[in-house]
Amino acid sequence: MAAPLVDNYGRTINYLRVSVTDRCDFRCVYCMSETMTFLPRSEVLSLEEIDTLATAFVRRGTRKLRLTGGEPLVRRGIIDLVRSLTRHLGNGLDELTLTTNGSQLARHAADLHAAGVRRINVSLDTLCPDKFAAITRWGKLAPVLEGIAAATRAGLHIKINMVALKGVNDGEIGDMLAWCAAAGHDLVLIETMPLGDVEGDRLDRYLPLKTVRRDLERRLTLVDLPDSTGGPARYVRIAETGQRLGFITPLTHNFCETCNRVRLTATGMLYLCLGQDDAADLRAVLRSGGDLDAALDEAMTRKPKGHDFVIDRRAARPAVARHMSVTGG
Ligand code: GTP
Ligand code: 5AD
Ligand code: SF4
Repeated sequence: MAAPLVDNYGRTINYLRVSVTDRCDFRCVYCMSETMTFLPRSEVLSLEEIDTLATAFVRRGTRKLRLTGGEPLVRRGIIDLVRSLTRHLGNGLDELTLTTNGSQLARHAADLHAAGVRRINVSLDTLCPDKFAAITRWGKLAPVLEGIAAATRAGLHIKINMVALKGVNDGEIGDMLAWCAAAGHDLVLIETMPLGDVEGDRLDRYLPLKTVRRDLERRLTLVDLPDSTGGPARYVRIAETGQRLGFITPLTHNFCETCNRVRLTATGMLYLCLGQDDAADLRAVLRSGGDLDAALDEAMTRKPKGHDFVIDRRAARPAVARHMSVTGG
């Protein structure tokens, strides 16, 4: 293998998140504005270009590839891309996975499993159809639940991502835990992050997960787990049910020190941190026949120490101008 990618802080970068499209069939209030304009197709990398770039990363030590969006399963040909990338499994790559909103999962689950995907993360903030429609602006809950059931039947391990939103779904965490325990899914709670100009009430919706954990500990025994998926979540086991629960806490417990990841957008921009705007234009390098390895090395020297997210009512703008959907989290 060629030299691994290491940044100026000594962090080895072995996790690449690839946004395969900026489009999504939902408009989650914390992720997109209602009136998003999407990219013209000429700007978007072809599936072959995505494959070439991801392969360059695998050669440089990427062990985990995650396809994101927008919504990755709305990209035409996505299963072909998955099938192609799984050739790296066992040849440097440990895992190829996806983060999806689940809306198209029912028709893709079996193909994903057959292609070699073993685990997916599904975003699901509520089990209440009306709330689901309000958070996603118009999404229907039933097809998502059908998709999750189909994926389970297909043999995919599922982790549910729930963004904790004060006054919206904070009363439902117990129900979601019980639903996940019954279905055998892991649950991960996420603090909402201030990216892009989205709805004005986001500051009011921010819920520190420290509070949630304290509340849960009043009635449940949470045992810290040492295991990690290579992502940012810290996990506990709930002694009473045996299930795994994760916390992603960019605001109350920063995890940048152990960051191992970078993000490629659908237009081939490589963002070095979710919470910063600096990026390297890999599409330009690729389309001009430039030296990709040199571009990756140069990009690593620019990876910042961490994000500057703050939940601050006085801040006129979010820390990062782009929407979450540009990098798919
Ligand atoms: P696993 O492989 O299951 O650990 O997944 P993951 O947590 O790496 O990926 P997922 O797409 O499920 O991301 C869950 C949430 O974590 C999303 O809201 C992401 O935005 C957030 N997240 C992932 N990586 C980072 C990061 O480097 N910094 C911050 N601040 N948030 C992150
Ligand atoms: N803050 C935290 N998580 C977010 N996600 C989308 N936008 C935000 C935000 N502003 C989550 C989605 C999905 C993952 C990719 O990112 O719910 O689970
Ligand atoms: Fe779509 Fe996911 Fe963003 Fe919701 S969070 S709008 S499902 S990309």
